[in-house]
Amino acid sequence: MAITVDYRWMIPPLGAEVVHSYRARVRAVHEDLTARRRAGKLPFYDLPRQDLSGIEGYVERMKGGFKTLVVLGIGGSSLGLLSLNAALRTPFPALEPSPRLVVLDNVDPVRVGSFLDALDPRETLLNVITKSGDTAETMASFLVFRKWFTDALGAKSAAERMVATTDRKKGALRKIVDEGGLASFEVPDGVGGRFSVLTPVGLLPAALLGIDIRGLLSGAAAMDGRLASGELAENPAYFGAVLHRVAYREGRRISVMFAYSDQLFLLADWYRQLWAESLGKRFALDGSVAAVGPTPVKALGVTDQHSQVQLYKEGPDDKVYTFLAVEKFSRTIPIPAAGAGLDAIGYLGGHTLNELFAAERRATEVALSRAGRPVSRIVFPEVTAHNVGEYYHLLEVMTVAAGALFGIDPLDQPGVEEGKQYAYGIMGRPGYEEKRRELEKTAAGEPRLLFGPPENA
Ligand code: PA5
Repeated sequence: MAITVDYRWMIPPLGAEVVHSYRARVRAVHEDLTARRRAGKLPFYDLPRQDLSGIEGYVERMKGGFKTLVVLGIGGSSLGLLSLNAALRTPFPALEPSPRLVVLDNVDPVRVGSFLDALDPRETLLNVITKSGDTAETMASFLVFRKWFTDALGAKSAAERMVATTDRKKGALRKIVDEGGLASFEVPDGVGGRFSVLTPVGLLPAALLGIDIRGLLSGAAAMDGRLASGELAENPAYFGAVLHRVAYREGRRISVMFAYSDQLFLLADWYRQLWAESLGKRFALDGSVAAVGPTPVKALGVTDQHSQVQLYKEGPDDKVYTFLAVEKFSRTIPIPAAGAGLDAIGYLGGHTLNELFAAERRATEVALSRAGRPVSRIVFPEVTAHNVGEYYHLLEVMTVAAGALFGIDPLDQPGVEEGKQYAYGIMGRPGYEEKRRELEKTAAGEPRLLFGPPENA
């Protein structure tokens, strides 16, 4: 069963005429994307048809050999896996099945140190993931873990407990792999971090955790087939891109993804990075200053109904909403009768939590729609690998199409790169001295505005 994309409630607030006026523009975008795809410039499109034998062979060899999989990676090198694990194994860290997943996508020393204390190197497999091979956070954590393994097991056994996923040729991690005999997988050329969930970046750790990676690819391939048309009215990815473009133009610059499923909540997190890093750009393709980009926000139903919906319904009309819904959950929980004399909650007995969850979502969608807010919905018939694969591909194609409509390059991230370069400068990486000087020259500002602790406290 395939996911359904429902845009019906988007049209009244945005206007059918303006949305359909994008027809010709969408045909041109389609032609351009198709030409670039054929020329091998957009390789993420073809990931659904990749050969999985290398991943499956490695997974077979490592089977039963570890109780915890530690993944070191950040941004596009971790968010896809986190969303996969939450959707297809468990979203609840306390209930992680074996092998358990630990993703260290932060260098908070308390986080890293706590796991070093708690883990046993003899039962741990480490997957270090960085496309560039140089990212300071990931590589610093790797150096810490490599020493931890080596101190406990010796260099040879340590190397057997580590696997790297990185660029084919470039970067420090590739060099370490080549010199140190680590097992390794490649991030295909031309696939950026946030588009890499269906490469070994997401697929290798997912398969090590027992996730159905063939199901993921079959879903992505099926969605690719559904996105073959260049006609606006026939292509849900292009239609979504146009709706967001129109909404943005009219001042609805915040895109809320509201997941009514704990399992799908991290898919909203993955989307947040995809949308933010791809579309938030200073320069347009023609070099002019654009400074565009919708701000993606994630919300969890029903929890955030009691936190955000007051603002969403009655606050500024500056948002567009995408609900993630599930038709059939893997569990059905009946609500028992409350007992006599409890009229205020007596109606609940005989229903299920599933019915209540769906009713709450529907009520929120209707309330927002009646307030004139643009609401769309992506419905998962069930949370399966196939449906999750469909979702990734749909959103990735929507993102490149939105990039074209915004007139920017959705595949680069110069803002992230600059931050990385300042950090290299501060930490003393050779070649980044100028970045360090730039930082030092940046005035701290008016000293009276610094409120430190009282002098003699
Ligand atoms: O989407 C992206 O390109 C970024 O979020 C990267 O994934 C992130 O900066 C990590 O980079 P790398 O995989 O090179 O360590």
